Formats: sequence, C-alpha cells, structure tokens
Amino acid sequence: MSEIKTIGVLTSGGDAPGMNAAIRAVVRAAIFNGFAVKGIRHGYNGLLTEDIYDMNLRSVSEIIHRGGTMLNTARCLEFTTPEGQAKAAENCRKNGIDALVVIGGDGSFRGCMAIARHGIKCIGIPGTIDNDIACSDYTIGFDTALNTAMEMIDKLRDTTQSHERCSVVEVMGRHAGYIAVNTGIATGALVVLVPEQPWDIDKDVIARIKETQAEGKKNFLIIVAEGAGKALKIAEEIEQKTGLDTRGTVLGHVQRGGSPSMRDRVVAAQMGVHAIELLQAGIFNRVVAMKNDTIVDYDIEEALSMHKELDPMLIGVAKVVSI
Ligand code: ADP
Ligand code: F6P
Repeated sequence: MSEIKTIGVLTSGGDAPGMNAAIRAVVRAAIFNGFAVKGIRHGYNGLLTEDIYDMNLRSVSEIIHRGGTMLNTARCLEFTTPEGQAKAAENCRKNGIDALVVIGGDGSFRGCMAIARHGIKCIGIPGTIDNDIACSDYTIGFDTALNTAMEMIDKLRDTTQSHERCSVVEVMGRHAGYIAVNTGIATGALVVLVPEQPWDIDKDVIARIKETQAEGKKNFLIIVAEGAGKALKIAEEIEQKTGLDTRGTVLGHVQRGGSPSMRDRVVAAQMGVHAIELLQAGIFNRVVAMKNDTIVDYDIEEALSMHKELDPMLIGVAKVVSI
C-alpha cells in the first residue's frame, strides 16, 4: 500500500482554463483518501523558495468556474539545473511532501521526471490549451480555448462580411495546429495553416482566394496557427497579391483565459481524481491521459517519448468543407 502521507500540488508552464478545477479535484480527492495536501505557488519556483502552504477542503472553494490558476504558474529556469532539482527535492522532504501532482505541459512533465530521480513521487496531469501532449487525446483547457477562439472569429466574420474583406486570424499553437484546424472547421475558414504541414502562400492561399473569388465569393477567412506564420505579414502579402482589402488579427492570450467549459471541468475532475487514486494504490511517476474517452495513465518517460500527429482526417475535413 501507499507510504505517502502528504501530497504537494502545483501548476506549471502556460496556464489553461480548467487548471483550477483540476487543483480542486486533486485537493478534494486527496483529503477524501486520507492524505494531507500542500499547495505550491508559482510552479517549480515555489519549491525552490518554499512558497508552500497547507490546503484543506475549503481552500479550493469558489474556483471551479474560474479561469487561470489559484496557485499561479511560472516558468523556472533554476529548476532546469541539477542543483535546482536537488534543492527542490530537498525542500519537498523538508516540508514533508512525499509526492507531487504537477498540472502542466510537456516541459512540466520533464520537470517531474527530474525530481522523481531524487526520490519524489510524481504524477503529471495534462493542462494546456494546445492539446499537444502526445500520450493524451485531450488536454485540460483545449475545449474552452476553442470556444473562445470560435466566438471571437464569429464576431470577426460579421465585419469581414460587411466590408467584403479578407481576414487573417492568428490563433495559438507554437508547435501544434489543433486550435487552428478545429476553429477553422467551426468557423468556416477558407484556408487553415498549421505548423505540422508545409505551405506555400501562392499555391495554398492566393490561388484558393482567386478560385473562390472567380465563383463569386466576396469575403475570406484564413486561419494561421502562430507556429505556422504571422497573420499581419500574411495579410500584407494577400493584399499585395490580390488587391483585396485585408486585415490581420492576432487573438493572443485571450485564448488562455475565461471560465472553463463543461468539458474542461469534467475532464479536470476525472484526471485529478485518477491522479490521487494512483498514489493511493502506490503507483507513481505516471502521466494521466485520455484515450478513446477513457482516463488512463502512462509512465512519464514513455509518455514523453511518444509522438502525436495532427489528425489527417481533420485536415481533410477542413479542406473539403471550405471548397
Ligand atoms: P509546459 O509545461 O507548458 O510545456 P514549459 O516547457 O515552459 O511549459 O515548462 C515549464 C517548466 O518546467 C519550466 O519552466 C521548467 O521549470 C520545467 N522544465 C521544463 N523542461 C525541463 C527539463 N528538461 N528538465 C527539468 N525541468 C524542466
Ligand atoms: O499555452 C501554450 C501556449 O499558448 C502556446 O500556444 C504559446 O506559444 C505559448 O503558450 C505562449 O505562452 P507565453 O506567452 O506564456 O510564453
């Protein structure tokens, strides 16, 4: 059985809507299973500065519907050094923390692996709007971010249509096109550009605009993932090459905020509870994941060695329905 008495919880890397719901689930499930819980503020920084406090059932009241993370999040350079990792593990021991639950992305899970080598038991929970954790079909925050992007692009469509313009919209996704391709389908974009696929401005953008223009189309929506190109530059090029009045819009960090959707709250609860059940069963150094709508878990090292392809079916759908 488990030798763990106290669990620490932290959020790390970019924030995502639903991180609060995940913290709440971890805290409540831990206490339900007889563990003590400590909150660690500002990601791995909090382990180095000992920004650590006792949590109880009421510490996580009134957060289920809030975006952001009540524990704050950060990127921590010092923790990427062997000295930083040794100090963090030492501070865990000093504060009585036997196991850590880390809610974050790939980078944060690499941090888990590092601290696990110093004997601290770890569980990772995927929280990022990018949906780019290879071992999981879904990451907490993705659904909310998609809906935020969709709502904003719907508004943009109104004015694009009124002025008979072309709009180029840049959505988040430094390395992944999940937000771009899904919002592209949901908002009826003519072209979606993603980092996973090479593209050519003349063949993939200008030619598509001209073809549809010849058929009578008057307004055009192009979606680009930030890792595939810059909206303002693409807009300029379109205007130059087609003469179309074109605007570029960068949606930016607004996509990371807002009240989490139903899906993000429920998945956060499922993943948080699963993380604690693993620790209760004496299983650790795992990443919680979703596969085919079921909550599963993988060894951290294995999870980090996996590769995830952008679903070619989605890319195909985006192309067909934009015809
Ligand atoms: P995300 O978790 O969203 O991918 P980052 O890549 O910024 O975000 O990682 C978050 C934090 O995790 C980093 O600031 C750092 O403290 C820690 N981290 C990232 N990569 C490593 C690594 N290779 N070894 C140890 N810690 C890491
Ligand atoms: O959360 C992931 C992400 O949104 C990426 O798509 C984006 O590149 C990155 O975070 C930007 O984060 P920051 O501005 O916090 O560095």
